[in-house]
Amino acid sequence: MRTCSACVLCERRNQAVPGIGDRHASWMFVGEGPGSEEDQRGEPFVGQAGRLLDNMLAAIGLQRGEDVYIANAVKCRPPHNRTPAPEEISSCRPYLERQIALVQPTVLVALGRPAALALLESEVSIGAARGRSFDYKGIPVVVTYHPAYLLRNPQDKGKAWADLCLARRIVAERKRGAASN
Ligand code: URA
Repeated sequence: MRTCSACVLCERRNQAVPGIGDRHASWMFVGEGPGSEEDQRGEPFVGQAGRLLDNMLAAIGLQRGEDVYIANAVKCRPPHNRTPAPEEISSCRPYLERQIALVQPTVLVALGRPAALALLESEVSIGAARGRSFDYKGIPVVVTYHPAYLLRNPQDKGKAWADLCLARRIVAERKRGAASN
């Protein structure tokens, strides 16, 4: 990943930002791509949106690094923080697939449209896709708003909260199912 040149995003990155967290996490959050602070520090979600993500995690009793893994749809910063193009997302997809295969999370949470595109391989609108779960190779995927969107649209925080509660129910049900098998 660190030396990847599969798409144009390699040209302007400071460094690739692979992901961070518990390598055996039950929860895997997938964002869009690194911003400028992430590109500087090499860790996902360390800027303003990251602080909101940490608060969202805390609200459902989670903490970065503890049963949580955080990755992005693309590992290199899109210039001027533009949305990654679909072809950049598909060039980067093998890395995300490998991360999911290694972590084997119980639930995947797609934060925003590019993350949903990376996981579901189809364009969805968050408003239409949220509130239910999709499937990625047998792992449930819950789609919700990106924290940067929520910073601009705080009126939708309640919906994101409901989506995280759905993901939490899915994790609890799957753990109960695994325990009784
Ligand atoms: N936004 C993202 O989607 N990912 C990050 O790592 C930071 C901000």
